[in-house]
Amino acid sequence: MPKSTTTTTILLLLLFPFFIHATTSSSSSPSTIIKAGFWPSWSFQTLPPSSINFSYFTHLFYAFIPLDPTTFQLSISPFHHLWLTNFTTTVHSQTPPLSALLSIAGGAFNRTIIANLVSNPTSRATFINSTISIALHYNLDGFDFDWEFPANPEQMDNLALLYKEWRAAITCLLPTKVLLLTSSVYFSPDFFLSIVPRSYPVAVMAETLDWINAMCFDYHGWWNTSETGLHAALYDPEKNISTSFGLGTWIREGMPAKKVVLGMPLYGRTWELKESEEHGVGSPAVNVGPGKGGKGIMVYGAIVRFNEENNATVVHDEERVAVYSYAGKSWLGYDDEWSVRKKVEYGMKMGLGGYFFWALGF
Ligand SMILES: *[C@@H]1O[C@H](CO)[C@@H](O)[C@H](O)[C@H]1NC(C)=O
Ligand SMILES: *[C@@H]1O[C@H](CO)[C@@H](O)[C@H](O)[C@H]1NC(C)=O
Ligand SMILES: *[C@@H]1O[C@H](CO)[C@@H](O)[C@H](O)[C@H]1NC(C)=O
Ligand SMILES: *[C@@H]1O[C@H](CO)[C@@H](O)[C@H](O)[C@H]1NC(C)=O
Ligand SMILES: *[C@@H]1O[C@H](CO)[C@@H](O)[C@H](O)[C@H]1NC(C)=O
Ligand SMILES: *[C@@H]1O[C@H](CO)[C@@H](O)[C@H](O)[C@H]1NC(C)=O
Ligand SMILES: *[C@@H]1O[C@H](CO)[C@@H](O)[C@H](O)[C@H]1NC(C)=O
Repeated sequence: MPKSTTTTTILLLLLFPFFIHATTSSSSSPSTIIKAGFWPSWSFQTLPPSSINFSYFTHLFYAFIPLDPTTFQLSISPFHHLWLTNFTTTVHSQTPPLSALLSIAGGAFNRTIIANLVSNPTSRATFINSTISIALHYNLDGFDFDWEFPANPEQMDNLALLYKEWRAAITCLLPTKVLLLTSSVYFSPDFFLSIVPRSYPVAVMAETLDWINAMCFDYHGWWNTSETGLHAALYDPEKNISTSFGLGTWIREGMPAKKVVLGMPLYGRTWELKESEEHGVGSPAVNVGPGKGGKGIMVYGAIVRFNEENNATVVHDEERVAVYSYAGKSWLGYDDEWSVRKKVEYGMKMGLGGYFFWALGF
């Protein structure tokens, strides 16, 4: 790969002063289960890093840092400088120390900017350069690249180039530091529900990434209000729109199970039923229901309160492994302790690397 070699040589020259200050830091043993959580920086008031219960976790992700749309460097505003410093220091000061990773971009970030970044070798080099400088500056243990989502096969090819060049740069520039490289991805390696067929470069990802964060949620939602749906079900007897199908496909297509991390949502998705008497999975619906923001999203804490206040009926769907509740015409699909436990048992049985939650504070 001459291109990567050139890139890393350039990077090595530019970064040498940073490189000599590199320190080794906490790392994860490959034999341990990854128990990860994403910390949204916008919850700095309600859940500052110091109030996270770290006993549940091995790895924490700071969500998110944007890219500069023209230079393609990571863009650390004064706000992010403050909280990234606080986050990393707090995560590392636990006994034993946990790993602090930085998640880049995120679901709300303009995906055209990422498509532009990956399409150009110089942009990729600038981006990679900036991630390495920032990893050293903030003493990070790794990165998560969260592009939602590459839109066509060409963008997938470019993403593969980014992964290869990024890994090559880390190996070359930081040989004594463990810097994890992960990526948040669609629940399946194939976008089989889309009108634009495309697949992740699984072989390259297996070779270059430490693991993938499979976002096993959002299977159903406000974009189709005609019927209720469980947005993160482990099984789907009708259409394979499920966590077990997605993760099984990742593994069948070549991702080692140990590099697959199962993502679970700490939020549900709600619907307004057509008739209060028809309240199953796939029942007719007319609107998004009581969840917030016009998108029917309700965090787990609010679901528990809603169920109590409305005397909702709670159903543990054993066949699909997911939970739903209903009260009048309100219908809520979500995960609770029971379904999370079942999913973690499934993950252990499959030999997965671990699990993560989106998001802390929900
Ligand atoms: C953190 O969670 C653990 C496990 O549930 C619990 O035993 C502990 O009391 C919690 N710590 C705090 C400070 O809430
Ligand atoms: C992080 O911020 C909190 C306030 O939310 C503060 O109490 C704590 O001392 C800070 N920790 C570090 C390491 O900066
Ligand atoms: C996304 O970024 C592209 C390229 O910079 C820009 O043309 C477009 O207006 C942006 N879209 C939104 C919704 O901001
Ligand atoms: C790489 O990063 C260093 C330090 O931030 C900077 O001085 C240099 O200009 C960067 N090079 C590129 C190609 O972005
Ligand atoms: C909504 O979902 C139902 C059931 O999966 C499907 O039959 C219908 O075509 C979908 N409607 C739209 C507009 O996608
Ligand atoms: C679901 O996936 C399984 C395994 O890949 C396949 O055999 C089956 O035909 C699929 N079912 C549907 C409805 O797509
Ligand atoms: C709550 O619902 C149950 C049936 O699901 C019913 O038996 C009970 O009377 C209801 N309680 C109140 C306070 O509405």
